[in-house]
Amino acid sequence: MAKTRVKAKRGALRRAAPKRAPLKRAAKNSATNRGRKRRAPSTSKPRKTITLRSKRGVSSSSKRGVSSSKSTLASAALAVGRVIGRTVAVVAERAPWGNGPVNAIELLERDHRRLEDLLKKGEETTPRAVKGRSELLDTITNELKAHELIEEKVLYPALKSHPEAKEIVLEGYQEHHVADVLVAELKQMDPADERWGAKFKVLKESLEHHIGEEEKKMFPTGRSVLSRAELEELGARMEAMKADALRRS
Ligand SMILES: [Fe+2]
Ligand SMILES: [Fe+2]
Repeated sequence: MAKTRVKAKRGALRRAAPKRAPLKRAAKNSATNRGRKRRAPSTSKPRKTITLRSKRGVSSSSKRGVSSSKSTLASAALAVGRVIGRTVAVVAERAPWGNGPVNAIELLERDHRRLEDLLKKGEETTPRAVKGRSELLDTITNELKAHELIEEKVLYPALKSHPEAKEIVLEGYQEHHVADVLVAELKQMDPADERWGAKFKVLKESLEHHIGEEEKKMFPTGRSVLSRAELEELGARMEAMKADALRRS
């Protein structure tokens, strides 16, 4: 009796409760569907299914094609390797650090850039940099001496025999002498002395003038009167002489 009453009560409650959830879902679905185009019934042919063949399934003609592609790739790689190898060899020979022939004038121009750097550093020092000035002057002295040596013993004599180069070569000897005197005086001077900076500046300007004369007048004349082979032969001698001079300093 009691069970019958409960069932009747539950049935009444179910009938009275509003069915909200299904309504919401329906509204949502209709809103979503409004933005979609209805797909037209497909009239095209069914898509082909692409399957990957296993190794066993590859025909002999395909195998031949793969093998031919592999050999083409291998020969292309070999050709590229040969080209790269040749390029590297040429670059290495021409590079300053390579084992190829050294052109005398190119060697001297590299020395000039190095000396210019050292002179610029020296000009930027102050009287407080006593140790720094002293060490820098030692480096300049050694490198300048080696540079002057190879010019005076190798390039200048080779050029002096050509009338068009004689005057500029004689001037070069004198400019070396002036630089040597200034370096010797600086070495005798206390780096903290107020005159050190002024004297160093005169050395710098004197050497910059000399470098300019060599590069604008002497070296172009040298290139016109000496062959490439002669410049390379002189360069080899200069390189060996310079290395020996720097080892002894
Ligand atoms: Fe010089
Ligand atoms: Fe020089």
